[in-house]
Amino acid sequence: MTTASVNRLAGLIARIDSREACIGIVGMGYVGLPLALLFSDQRFKVTGFDIEPSKVKTLNAGKSYILHILPSEIQAAQKAGFRATSDYSEIARMDAVIICVPTPLNEHHEPDLSFVTGTVKSIAPWLREGQLIVLESTTYPGTTEEIVVPLLEAGNSGGLKVSRSLDQFGLHVAFSPEREDPGNTDVARHDIPKVIGGCGPAATQLASAMYGAIFRRVVPVSSPSVAEMTKLLENIYRCVNIALVNELKQLCMRMGIDIHEVIDAAKTKPFGFQAFYPGPGLGGHCIPIDPFYLSWKAKQFDFRTRFIDVAGEINTAMPYFVIEQIAAGLNEQRKSIKGSKILVLGVAYKRDIDDLRESPSLTIIELLREKGALVAYNDPFFATVGRGRHYDLNMNNTPLDNLGQYDAVVIVTDHSSYDYRAIVEQSQLVVDTRNATKGIDSAKIVRC
Ligand SMILES: NC(=O)c1ccc[n+]([C@@H]2O[C@H](COP(=O)([O-])OP(=O)(O)OC[C@H]3O[C@@H](n4cnc5c(N)ncnc54)[C@H](O)[C@@H]3O)[C@@H](O)[C@H]2O)c1
Repeated sequence: MTTASVNRLAGLIARIDSREACIGIVGMGYVGLPLALLFSDQRFKVTGFDIEPSKVKTLNAGKSYILHILPSEIQAAQKAGFRATSDYSEIARMDAVIICVPTPLNEHHEPDLSFVTGTVKSIAPWLREGQLIVLESTTYPGTTEEIVVPLLEAGNSGGLKVSRSLDQFGLHVAFSPEREDPGNTDVARHDIPKVIGGCGPAATQLASAMYGAIFRRVVPVSSPSVAEMTKLLENIYRCVNIALVNELKQLCMRMGIDIHEVIDAAKTKPFGFQAFYPGPGLGGHCIPIDPFYLSWKAKQFDFRTRFIDVAGEINTAMPYFVIEQIAAGLNEQRKSIKGSKILVLGVAYKRDIDDLRESPSLTIIELLREKGALVAYNDPFFATVGRGRHYDLNMNNTPLDNLGQYDAVVIVTDHSSYDYRAIVEQSQLVVDTRNATKGIDSAKIVRC
């Protein structure tokens, strides 16, 4: 290792330690914005980049567009130097650039990396020697090395190359997966260990110094691919285990056994068991999507990821199973779905959050409408539900009163503000997909 490169790397780490380092975060969404606040909390000067002008405007006005982030938090960050911009030329001023843009699936259920490639192409012309670039967006193993690095090297005007050894001082590139769990108040963000895989030892050291300033523990791994695969293992583990309990729930229903009582008993085992809960289907940006990034990549290796396929099949079928249960409940009352008035409780994909991406409620509402039901919804977090990538509902929130007018009330999201006892008392039929009515004894409830 040459003395010059040692000194330059030490200089960058010193800028992090002294908080002189400027941090740029590209993508001010559910991941990027909280991360920006975490850096601001630790007195870094943070610039948030986003292509959506309304987000830039809102943030610079000291306001928030994410429910669990308060305007006061944005304003406190502004006092520490936080600002938002759409101007990529500011990338040149940054010591580190962290990319937190979406990684959805396209219409063929394949990875859509267009947001990542778009971002990388936009920042590349502004890069300078020594900068650290970290991808946080969830993706398949190989993305950083095969997609991001070539675009960065081809797109910068100074002929900069990615540093591969400690005596090569160029661009420092790493992958570090995000482990955000929206709505989880049990674990503080800075207590969630941060996995880091650099393209070379200098990138891993630099990224470890940067994240070490805001997270209590960093976990360096040997390569970006290991870090990318780590994130997918975590999410596939959840996806497969949720599918397992969703399948066992259906068996238990046939056998007259309460799956929730079974899970509660099983989780008393102090080792070798982790509780997962059945529900109406997967939701959110991660679990329904990320596993398919790996199954797509596996095909390049002539390999079939059977667990992912089976879990996907079971979880995707859950909203259809809920429809069958609604039909069965109505059938007991000599009614059909067609023509019935049905209220869906909760459109968010999980309890107490304002995010409806991939929410099973959207599929359930669409299926009920297709079958001729008159569907309304209530959700304290959504005044309206319009149009998204996979739905076009155009509905307004319905007040939670006069529940007796509905032929069925379907609990899809178990928001904690709902009074479930009152809901059961006032309704003709309650279909509960979340065990929200646990402990309430009533013949009106169909638990599924
Ligand atoms: N939301 C979560 O709980 C969560 C958890 C772990 C990992 N992730 C992963 O993190 C990544 C980001 O997810 P998210 O939930 O924050 O998405 P998001 O949609 O909330 O935010 C992404 C932001 O990026 C912006 N953007 C898109 N293209 C851009 C570009 N070229 N330049 C600048 N800004 C651009 C969008 O306008 C948006 O504000 C995804 O890969 C996701 O899988 C999300």
